[in-house]
Amino acid sequence: MMSTRKSRRQASKRIAPLDMSPAAFRSVGRRAVDDTAKFLASMPKGSVTAGSAPKRIRKLLGTGKLPQRGMAPGPLLRATTKLLFDESLFNGHPRFWGYITSSPAPLGMLGDLIASAVNPNVGAWVLSPVASEIEAQTIRWIAELIGYPTTCGGLLVSGGNMANFIGFLAARKAKATWDIRTGGLRSGPAAMTVYVSQETHTWIHKAVDLFGLGLESIRWIPVDADRRMNVKELEQRIAMDRSAGYLPMLVVGTAGTVGVGAVDPLRDIAAVCRRQEVWFHVDGAYGAPAAALPRISDDLLALSEADSLALDPHKWLYSPLEAGCTLVKNPAHLEDAFSFHPEYYNFKVSEEEPALNYYELGMQNSRGFRALKVWLALRMVGKAGFVRMIRDDISLSRAMFDAVRRQPALEPFAQNLSIATFRYLPQDLRGKGEAAAEYVNDLNRELLNRLQTGGEAFISNAVVDGTYLLRACIVNFRTKLADVKSLPELVVRIGSQVDSELRPASLHA
Ligand SMILES: Cc1ncc(COP(=O)(O)O)c(C=O)c1O
Repeated sequence: MMSTRKSRRQASKRIAPLDMSPAAFRSVGRRAVDDTAKFLASMPKGSVTAGSAPKRIRKLLGTGKLPQRGMAPGPLLRATTKLLFDESLFNGHPRFWGYITSSPAPLGMLGDLIASAVNPNVGAWVLSPVASEIEAQTIRWIAELIGYPTTCGGLLVSGGNMANFIGFLAARKAKATWDIRTGGLRSGPAAMTVYVSQETHTWIHKAVDLFGLGLESIRWIPVDADRRMNVKELEQRIAMDRSAGYLPMLVVGTAGTVGVGAVDPLRDIAAVCRRQEVWFHVDGAYGAPAAALPRISDDLLALSEADSLALDPHKWLYSPLEAGCTLVKNPAHLEDAFSFHPEYYNFKVSEEEPALNYYELGMQNSRGFRALKVWLALRMVGKAGFVRMIRDDISLSRAMFDAVRRQPALEPFAQNLSIATFRYLPQDLRGKGEAAAEYVNDLNRELLNRLQTGGEAFISNAVVDGTYLLRACIVNFRTKLADVKSLPELVVRIGSQVDSELRPASLHA
């Protein structure tokens, strides 16, 4: 043990091991920015994924114990930059169209750097004066962008799941006819029920499980041929449940389903919710930003009628991960659901002005400055810039779908917003019905695995009524026409190779 005198002497001229002099920071940082710029220049010309096996990555990291002593930040950051740039999957690549993750806006990358430099805790206004106000402005601007009332409340969260959870919890509090905060769900007079289409993202499973309603509270409303919620069945089911003694709490309409990108008939769903006095939540995690376009379907525009809405800046607002957002029409509903005032918080700004304390509006307590990267992007390109990028993504997706249609070995399924779905279907297997169905699913599954690891492009899949589909979602401002036109040929090349290896004898002509 160090003597008290010695440790005091050291503390008086303290240089903490983690601190860096401004000069060292500048030199290490400049190199990191230079290397990142080189990466941004070369990445689009390379492979979408390094395709590194887990074994390789673990070997590069080594199996050594936690180091007893550290190393100089310069070489450390250079080695780490190299590791990331050499061994990753690159969702900023022009031919990355998997799941729903966008190319990150370069200004957002720098935004994250300066946000971390100030490190405001955006849980309370007094701890983050500028950051809290920037978050509030970001919320208003996102609402304005998509035509949602700008008098709404809202906050940024980590992503779509969290954004939908916030809407769910605001609804649960607002629709409980009893003091749910005190007695919980079990003290209520009726079991709450929620209404979603079969195409709803799996966040709903987590929500009913985590927030006490249970999986049996979900009413799965069927969809039509375009995978849109059947509104007649919705209203009948709500009425039936109410007369059976349940408390219908929430309807979820989706603006851009995770599978085929369908937009539910939101205008009609809103009318049902009004008539039935049920909370209307829109999951617009993916598709809501398309409401900014001048010529867009009335169904999408009707998201303005939602009591709450989820929208992910890290999807179609091209923000680096993580950034989700919830908007709630009546701001009081967020405070009702989330606000507590412990004595150890001294977060009042003044007697006259109510404080904007984000810890009172959501699940987090300490919160980072997520808003900065989103706000910078909104300021850099404005509404016109986003309209142009989203419109381009949609027209590129249509061009891809047209190219799919021209390939005889591909079967087009649907094109909605910026999602195209289709599958590889060898011509001699068409019309073979059930006998070939299972094999064609396996064929497309294996095709996708090879395509994803091959690195020429990256797409993902959807399953519709048991049919395995390939799915390309373009939320990518780097994609160009030549990229989308190259996909069908690539799919056919890999598909025919897989078919020649896997086809069972019984399915040969
Ligand atoms: C419609 C929809 N809702 C919710 C989510 C979940 O979003 P996140 O992955 O950001 O939590 C997704 C993700 O793709 C989605 O497409």
